[in-house]
Amino acid sequence: MKAVIPAAGLGTRLLPATKAQPKEMLPVYDKPTIHYVVEEALKAGIDDIMIVTGRNKRSIEDYFDKSHELEYTLQKAGKDRDLKKVRKITDLADICYVRQKDLKGLGDAVLAAERHVGDEPFAVLLGDSIVKCNSCTGHLVDVFEKYQKSTIAIREVPNEQVNKYGIISGSEIDDDIYKISKLVEKPEIGQAPTNLAIAGRYVLTPDIFDKIKETEAGFNDEVQLTDAISKLDEVYGVNYHGKVFNIENRIGWLTSSIDFALDDDEFKDDLIEYMKTFMD
Ligand code: UTP
Repeated sequence: MKAVIPAAGLGTRLLPATKAQPKEMLPVYDKPTIHYVVEEALKAGIDDIMIVTGRNKRSIEDYFDKSHELEYTLQKAGKDRDLKKVRKITDLADICYVRQKDLKGLGDAVLAAERHVGDEPFAVLLGDSIVKCNSCTGHLVDVFEKYQKSTIAIREVPNEQVNKYGIISGSEIDDDIYKISKLVEKPEIGQAPTNLAIAGRYVLTPDIFDKIKETEAGFNDEVQLTDAISKLDEVYGVNYHGKVFNIENRIGWLTSSIDFALDDDEFKDDLIEYMKTFMD
């Protein structure tokens, strides 16, 4: 299976940090956001990855590319640990790139990968969201194997936040597995059918491409992937209970960085001590 990582958006909610660098390259603790996303695809057994980029996104390609000068300098200085780290990034996966020419929304970004994906089911992982610990995509692939229909990750969100997400409704046919009857992009609070939100991870059948082409611009005048998915005849949702971080705004970026920093035994205690100073 191949994976598509849409990463072409402007990231306006994180300006000015994103003025000259992609939000997908913002570090979450010690790695760029998109590094975690690529690692998740790899954990799911997917190593053929297409990243959808756009203007001002060159640093994503540079990051996963070989850096001869840096490697040479580290080698000469005997910094073997750093050299190993740098080489590991280049060897991570077989990554190729396509540009989304006009930023017409997530559906349009996925459509840009059509030629590379071909006539096979494929995974989509949003380039600005990180799921922690186990591979959400790996679980989706397993569920997809069973039903052979498009399968998307969902998660419960607070009722007062439903207007920030694509929301589903449907019936639970197995533990944490829903047969979806309706999807709606960013409903108004009080109008949402449930509080089950689309979590930014999908395994889609290739007929999605025709559905995207049939989809008119919707919310925010963008071609919404959610609207195209609602046109598919059968879609399943998998309730994911792990942590999901959306690096789309300041609080998402900051809390994710703190969360990952707390996993690092070297700095954890110092960070906690520092945070305690705000409680006095
Ligand atoms: P978002 O809607 O959160 O990203 O898309 P954005 O448009 O960059 O955000 P704001 O509203 O300006 O702050 C989720 C993911 O889909 C990609 C984004 O790069 C992000 O990783 N995306 C979005 C595209 O690749 N193309 C698009 O046209 C829109």
